[in-house]
This record gives sequence, C-alpha cells and structure tokens, in this order.
Amino acid sequence: MSSASPLPLTPASVDAWAPGSWRTRPALQLPHYPDAAALAAAQDELRNLPPLVTSWEILALKRQLAEAQDGERFLLQGGDCAESFAECNSSVISNRLKVLLQMSLVLVHGLKLPVVRVGRFAGQYAKPRSADTETIDGVTLPCYRGDMVNAPAFTEAARIPDPRRMVRAHARSAMTMNFVRALIDGGFADLHHPEYWDLAWVGHAPLAHEYQRMVGAIGDAVRFMETLAGGQVHNINRVDFYTSHEALLLPYEETQTRQVPRQDGWFNLSTHYPWIGMRTAALDGAHLEYFRGIRNPIAVKVGPSVAPDQLLRLIDVLNPDDEPGRLAFIHRMSAGSIATKLPPLLDAVKRDGRRILWICDPMHGNTESTSNGYKTRRFDNIRSELEQAFDLHAAAGTRLGGVHLELTGENVTECLGGARELTELDLKRAYRTTVDPRLNYEQALEIAMLIVRKRGQISA
Ligand code: PEP
Ligand code: CO
Repeated sequence: MSSASPLPLTPASVDAWAPGSWRTRPALQLPHYPDAAALAAAQDELRNLPPLVTSWEILALKRQLAEAQDGERFLLQGGDCAESFAECNSSVISNRLKVLLQMSLVLVHGLKLPVVRVGRFAGQYAKPRSADTETIDGVTLPCYRGDMVNAPAFTEAARIPDPRRMVRAHARSAMTMNFVRALIDGGFADLHHPEYWDLAWVGHAPLAHEYQRMVGAIGDAVRFMETLAGGQVHNINRVDFYTSHEALLLPYEETQTRQVPRQDGWFNLSTHYPWIGMRTAALDGAHLEYFRGIRNPIAVKVGPSVAPDQLLRLIDVLNPDDEPGRLAFIHRMSAGSIATKLPPLLDAVKRDGRRILWICDPMHGNTESTSNGYKTRRFDNIRSELEQAFDLHAAAGTRLGGVHLELTGENVTECLGGARELTELDLKRAYRTTVDPRLNYEQALEIAMLIVRKRGQISA
C-alpha cells in the first residue's frame, strides 16, 4: 500500500462543537450589523435573560415526535410565515391558537390518533430572502429580513440591521408564550368548552356546519366517558402546545443556547423545535454546524434541488446515532414536482434504514405572483401537493407523519380558492401578510378535513 495516499477529510461531526463554532463556517442569510459594539451589548443582554422554554419540555416533545415517526401520533405545525412586532397582540395570538386547536380537534377525531401541536410562533421573526438588497428609484437598501433584524419601510433608518431588535423579539416571544401558556392553563383548550375556540367573524362559513357536527359528537363522547368514569376525565381539559421557528439568526440563537443542571449537552432554550430553512441547509454551512450540537428535536426544509446522497449526508451530520424523534425532513417540492422529486429521497432514506419524521409543507413550493401583483398560493395546488405526498409515501412504504402550514386565525384573503372560491379580485380585500400568503381560517380547516379523508383512504 502506498504511504502517499491522502488522509481522509475530517467530517464536521467529529470536530469540537461549541455554541459559537458556526462562526468557522460559511454563513448565509445573516445580516451585516454595522455597529459591532451594539451587537455585542445586545448579545450580552440576551445571554443573561431567562430562557423561554425548558429542557424537559423539549425532551417531552422529542418523545412525542418519536411516536409520530412510528405512526402513533400526527404532527400539526402551523402559524405565520413571519410574526410581526405590531401583531403581537391578544386577538392575533388567541385567534391563531383557536384555528390550531380546531384543526387538531378535527385530526384527533378523524385520525383516532393523538396530535402533536406545534406553533410557528413565539420567535418566528427572522426571514431568509432571495436577495441581500432592494433597489427602488435608484436607491439601494438592505432587504427586509424580519422584525428581529430590521423594519419593512423603505428608508435607511428602517432597513439598517439593528441588534436591539433581537432583544425586543425575545421579549415579544416571551409575551406570546406567556399568553399561550396562560390561556391553556386557564382551560381555553378544554374539550368541555370548544365554543371558546369559535372565531367571532366565522358566521356562516361553508365548513362551520361540518365542524359543529364534529364538536357535538366529541362532546357526547366526553360526557359518555365521564358518565362511565363517574367524574371528570383527567387530561381532557389540558393539551400540550409547543413552539417552533426557523433558527436563522445565529447571533441570536447562540445566546439562547444553554446548559442545564442534570442534563448533558446543550439546548436551544428559545424554542422547542427549531428548523433549518431550505436556503441555509448546505452541508458545510454555519447552520448545520450550529444545529448538530444542540439536543432539541430539529427539522430541515428539503426542496426540489436536494439529491438523495446529500440527504443521507445531512443525516450523518445531524443524527449520527439514529436517535428517535431527533430529525425531521420537511419536504416542500410544489404540486408540479413532488411526484418526480420526492420518491428518490424516500427510497434512499428507507434503503439506508434511517429514522426520519417526514413532514409535508405544501405551501412554499407553490408560491406565485398574480397579474395584479400579489404573491399568492392556489388552494388547489396546496391540496394537490398534500394529497400526492400521502400517496407517494404509501407507494414508497414510508409514512407521512405531519404537516407544516402557514395559516392565520384572521379573516384574510391571501391564498386563492378554497370552499369560498377566492379569486384574484378578492386578494386586495384583506391581504395582510408581510411575507408569504397564509391560509385563512376556512382554508385551514378544509386542509384538516382533507388530511383526515386522505389518510383514511391510505390506511383503508
Ligand atoms: C418558511 O418556512 O417561511 C420558509 C422560508 O421556508 P423555506 O425555507 O422552505 O423556503
Ligand atoms: Co413562508
């Protein structure tokens, strides 16, 4: 054997990890903060603030996600594309919670499975963008990257990244969490009172009747169980709710990465379930380096350009020990390309015997612009991608364990179609998103009912 053969390259996974080791790798989609001293001061402040979640909640979620991998639960993950500081208010937060609770009720009832509920909230304030700058009338400014980084107005003052915004985002995330926890602890999610979750403006929604029928049937079942048990059935008035966001802004995430007593390793305590966006999932990139070292369950968005061997190498780095519940892939292909792009990925992971939770995001591959200038998504494309996802998993012998949706409890008109058949002319009526178009209440509920129908067909 020749002694001159080259040494194998060191895989990232054997190098020492630290909360800041991502700085040694190429970092995409991060803002440039012009004032380094202000950045350091904001980070020092953030490092000392109390965490937003606890390690035992994170580990409980990981166990639930492991059950979802095994088909014993279904994951519902949803919320805004981007939260905004201005909409951190009582009605937006409680309406979003109501829609998610109603959808989870439809899923539990229809699938006969417990549901893992994860919000895209309490930290979803940083956004990846396709360009670093934007030019209007000869003026070039940094792009808007989410309220945690800068502000949307097209002025220099608004667009220069401001590190104090990370401190404000942490505070608003804490207020959001506090309100959600208080609502749930106070009985808001009590199955005896699903009327608490009704949205005032829904009125004569086309699907309201079907939903009310389901609520009636569940109420009967709860009363029946209580009659049998001779009292209140425990746990029926309590649900778990977990938080998630795209952990894009690593200077922030690093400050929330902590060690805790009686646990090994490091946790990101800003959220239960961080994910890596499609644009920052490079194998040698800063985001992978950061994520491999935290103990939270994590997810990676997978788009149509990802090759099967790339996916296997992502698993090598992010879940080398094949830990249950640790890693999910959120595929977001588009209705047109899922049938060709997804099966090779499913086959490769299955052939290798890797443990993955598969989640379908039917939103992000299906974004388009209308002739009147709105960024929108057609309900039919969202439905089609989701239905195909169930069929493709069934054909591959893998399991679709959850969905990832952008939705709101507000009566918006951002996605076309659905039960009320929204048209391009309807979009201007209530188009409120600052980034991507969201399902409104009716469209979200329709998706929940569709999941029940489709999964029923697959397992029949
Ligand atoms: C998002 O989830 O808002 C997002 C930007 O998704 P993706 O990374 O899949 O494009
Ligand atoms: Co989005």
